[in-house]
Amino acid sequence: MKYVIANWKMQLLNNEAVKLARDLKQNIVEDENKKVVICPSFIALNQVWQEIAETDVALGSQNVWYENKGAFTGEVSLDQLQEMGVEYVIIGHSERREYNSETDIQVNAKVKKAVEKGIIPIICVGETKKERENGEAEKQVQNQVAQALQNIGMQENTKIIIAYEPVWVIGTGQAVEPEEAKKMAELIKNTLNEEVMDKFTIVYGGSVDAQNVASFMEEGLIDGVLVGGASLSLDKFLPLIENV
Ligand code: PGA
Repeated sequence: MKYVIANWKMQLLNNEAVKLARDLKQNIVEDENKKVVICPSFIALNQVWQEIAETDVALGSQNVWYENKGAFTGEVSLDQLQEMGVEYVIIGHSERREYNSETDIQVNAKVKKAVEKGIIPIICVGETKKERENGEAEKQVQNQVAQALQNIGMQENTKIIIAYEPVWVIGTGQAVEPEEAKKMAELIKNTLNEEVMDKFTIVYGGSVDAQNVASFMEEGLIDGVLVGGASLSLDKFLPLIENV
């Protein structure tokens, strides 16, 4: 199964997100070997879900809070997300780590809760430009993976997606060389416990488009992509899906 995960970030108004979901539904060619997941803003989840409910396209959220319920102003729980048809949740995106000071400890708490609730976490890891220049990229990625996965209570049907996203290429239009992404995917796999390896899928994110998408998935180390900019219009996103 190859994943195509669309992170719409805060880029679309509610009605634009609903329209894009509707257009996608009407034009997508269903393929049982590909899983398309769209992640709109919280406010658009309900209406987008209604658009895609009868299709194979799945719904994801861009964030979550790790408590079930309580006095957490402005936050959204996994129970609330599940009620909206959400099956996937992006956790620890670099933009949240940077602008919302999200820590590895919070990422870990969110992953734990998602696994417990049966929602598939899409854990984002990746080095900054500075970390890369200092030769710390590998160490940083391994560290983020290890911390995100601490004390996770794996269940029979647990699935976890790890997205390797070099922070410095996100939104630049210039992805890393596929070889580089594959090297990191291999490193991530080596960090994982072999007994539970079959529960994990590694995807790549960072300036993926219709032209470069196929190159990341050769050799089977990477099983999908997390896409920002190129998922925001049908004319870019459809050919991207087709080329996976
Ligand atoms: P991009 O974003 O495809 O626009 O680089 C990817 C992401 O932030 O997940």
